[in-house]
Amino acid sequence: MANLKHWRTLLLLCVFLQGNHSNSIQRPRYIDCQDSNECAGGSCCVMGMGRFSIPTCKTHQEQNEPCHAGQTQPVNTTVIYLDGAVVDYTNVFVQYCHCAVGLACDELTSTCQDPLSNPNFNFLN
Ligand SMILES: *[C@@H]1O[C@H](CO)[C@@H](O)[C@H](O)[C@H]1NC(C)=O
Repeated sequence: MANLKHWRTLLLLCVFLQGNHSNSIQRPRYIDCQDSNECAGGSCCVMGMGRFSIPTCKTHQEQNEPCHAGQTQPVNTTVIYLDGAVVDYTNVFVQYCHCAVGLACDELTSTCQDPLSNPNFNFLN
């Protein structure tokens, strides 16, 4: 009977470990955001260019800060991390958030500018 008790313990341990494992696949602790909606107002979920990039909430770009001319839409993507975690991202931005309210991305300089105060503004957004 001692053997049976042992098995039961082992079985419980397995279930416990498996539960833990699938949790970490859903949302590893090192992930700050999976969607821009999770970030506070005035910020968005930004992912770097790297293959195993870990997104973080960042504030919108202010005047003279860099932006991607022509990049108007956030992206959806899935990243597979080295620990085996598979994380789906929706509504995330690459490198930078959009320009802050009232600013737009100037095509020539790739910086956020106020289109109303700049007659030479080339804006795409
Ligand atoms: C990303 O996914 C969201 C939610 O599923 C969807 O509404 C949106 O249209 C998708 N965006 C792109 C660029 O595919």
